[in-house]
Parts: sequence; structure tokens; C-alpha cells
Amino acid sequence: MHRISFNLNGETTETEVEDYSTLMEMLREKFSLLSLKEGCGIGECGACTVLLNEKPVYACLTLAVKADGCDIKTAEYLSKGSEIHPLQKSFIKAGAVQCGYCTPGMLMSAYALLKNEEKPTDEMIREGISGNLCRCTGYIQIVEAVRDAAKI
Ligand code: FES
Ligand code: FES
Repeated sequence: MHRISFNLNGETTETEVEDYSTLMEMLREKFSLLSLKEGCGIGECGACTVLLNEKPVYACLTLAVKADGCDIKTAEYLSKGSEIHPLQKSFIKAGAVQCGYCTPGMLMSAYALLKNEEKPTDEMIREGISGNLCRCTGYIQIVEAVRDAAKI
């Protein structure tokens, strides 16, 4: 077991993890952060995307020990009680949430993009969410939502 400490959604946190535990197992099982989903489990769908030091990573492929000393953000970070983030509002307004399975991971990729790029082009948005698959929307509403959020 390894004792690790890190910042999780704005709070200093510590826990113990096995050598082989994934970041997804740790976040879902030890911290009940259920926004991230296990879609494929092999780094193909992006449903498990979280931010590690502000960069999107697949939590299914990242070992939990990598969180030591880092900043981790999940989609839970975006809302405070009933107050949701402007990006989440844009997703709802654009109809970018259908079954919702991809949405938390998609939000984290879009959030990271908008942190680095205040006015992304549609091409930049598509590139930014290219690691996240959505089987419902055809991506048009998602790109529109990110574009709208960038205007706020
Ligand atoms: S569950 Fe991690 S990429 Fe699909
Ligand atoms: S909204 Fe269903 S997979 Fe994206």
C-alpha cells in the first residue's frame, strides 16, 4: 500500500492505495466521485476523463499513485450545491446532454480547453474533445455548447 496526498476538487486529501489501483477505482470507490464512468476501461472512450494537474487524463489508464502531490479535478468540481458551472449550463442549453454517459468526461476536456484557450475555433474545440466519444449527439451540440461557454 502507498499513502498518497493530493488536492482533490479543491481540498487537500490523503488516502492509501494499492500499487495496481487505477485513479478511476480510487476516485469512484474511495471518494464516491461517480461522475467519471467506466465505459471501455481501455483508454478508448473518454468517459473516465478527469484533470490531473489541469490536463485531461483517462482515469482508467492512470495509476492512483500518480495522483500523489498532484491536483485532481472531476466533474463534481464544476458545481457547487445547486449552482452549476456556465459550461454545464451551455451543455444543457445546446441539447448536448442526451444519455449523459459521456458528459462528465466531455465537460472536463472542454473545461481544460477553455482554461488554455479563451476563444477556441470550432477546430480547436473538436481537437480538445477528440479523446471523448459520444454515441448520441453527433458532436454538433457539444461543439456549440463549448463555443457558447467561451463567450461567457
Ligand atoms: S473508461 Fe477510460 S477511456 Fe473508456
Ligand atoms: S450524450 Fe450519450 S454518449 Fe454522449
